[in-house]
Amino acid sequence: MDPHDTDRSDRVRPDRLAPSLHWFHLVALGVGAIVGTGILTLIGVGAGKAGPAVVVSFVFAGLVCACAALAYAEMATAIPQAGGAYTYARVMLGERIAWLVGWSLILEYSLVVSAVAVGWSGYAAPLLHEIWGMPMRWMQAPDAGGALNLPAVAIIAAVAAALVYGTRESATFNALLVGLKLIALLLFVVLAAREFDPHNLQPFMPFGFAKQTGADGVERGVMVAAAIIFFAFYGFDAIATAAEEAHYPERDLAIGIVGSMLVCVAIYLAVALAALGALSYARFAASPEPLALVLRELGQPLAARFLGLSAVVALPTVILAFFYGQSRIFYALARDGLLPAALAKISRRGTPAGATAFTALLVGAIAGTFPLAEIAALANAGTLLAFSAVAASMLIARRQGPPPPGRFRAPLPWLTGPVAILGCGYLFVSLPWQTQAYFLIWNAVGGVVYWIAAKRRRS
Ligand code: ALA
Repeated sequence: MDPHDTDRSDRVRPDRLAPSLHWFHLVALGVGAIVGTGILTLIGVGAGKAGPAVVVSFVFAGLVCACAALAYAEMATAIPQAGGAYTYARVMLGERIAWLVGWSLILEYSLVVSAVAVGWSGYAAPLLHEIWGMPMRWMQAPDAGGALNLPAVAIIAAVAAALVYGTRESATFNALLVGLKLIALLLFVVLAAREFDPHNLQPFMPFGFAKQTGADGVERGVMVAAAIIFFAFYGFDAIATAAEEAHYPERDLAIGIVGSMLVCVAIYLAVALAALGALSYARFAASPEPLALVLRELGQPLAARFLGLSAVVALPTVILAFFYGQSRIFYALARDGLLPAALAKISRRGTPAGATAFTALLVGAIAGTFPLAEIAALANAGTLLAFSAVAASMLIARRQGPPPPGRFRAPLPWLTGPVAILGCGYLFVSLPWQTQAYFLIWNAVGGVVYWIAAKRRRS
């Protein structure tokens, strides 16, 4: 199939998802999906791995993501169908590689939902404890000394209910919360920048650039931090999975993907520089709420409380966007006969209710029991594979010819495409070795599932 030949009339078939999204919904969905636990919580983890040079990690991860975003925008406008990277790979790289990508996307989307729910719980738990006296034991996973992370499970259930209710309602509400999140981060930058002290940036790169294992057995370095911080940058791909529900996919998806990506890169660099300059990284590296801690240390308890509350109110937008993407990945895979058909069923409201319920069970179980950094690292592994596949798909499509006039075209494709692929590769080798091992096991399981599905289809 020629990716430039997508049949637009396809969008109005009665068995398709309802086209209910405009470009501003998509930009809000993008920024809502990108700005989250990465900048609010994992910035501390990253600083602990790289020192002040975590700003370099931000730049590296942001550059790779920006290149991938361009490829995404081109492919999303050429093939505006649910499924994102899976669908592009299916058209350009064949079913087997597409299955691998789809299987990795399940890992990405489900684990991002779980990771952000855990990050949300980190900010919500002190409030729930303070206001209602909820015991901390029921608000932490076993690794942190608790029994179960109940708030993380509860927020996932709430978002699932919103999505089953209807796409547009959720996306509009999402736009309001995105605004709140951005105001809180802007306030942080303004207050922290006033206390900027260049001494806090020295020594700049205490743990070197490439991955190295310290005497304590912990892997550190600018690239190790970049492989974790990478989490903070993606989310624009969640827009691409909403392609079938956009009114004018060719224009709206490009604006949504590239626009939201650029906005977020600028915000992150400002927040990271402000935080690192205001307080020595060692003091906030291990905090579950590093930005609020910085503000408290600067004598701004009210602003810290506002930031914490904003995180609690607004982080569900990230969960919403990835949850949305996840149910549609299941939908696309089931539609192609690679997962049970029940997952492709559309409810009377035009939403994939079965896929949403299945997703809620899966991600709730993970969020209730696993630690944040491990979940985020594995989510990154899946995303890196998906991004490489999208960039490769774009390059293959370009070999067949340039996109027709009026379509979004990635600038300098023969530079941005390879930078995305090689950058993702370098980030993958910089991930903890345990994460790499889990990722290989996950794909081995995926290979077996594919083999079983292919056998069933033949018989
Ligand atoms: N970029 C998203 C976040 O940081 C996944 O939460």
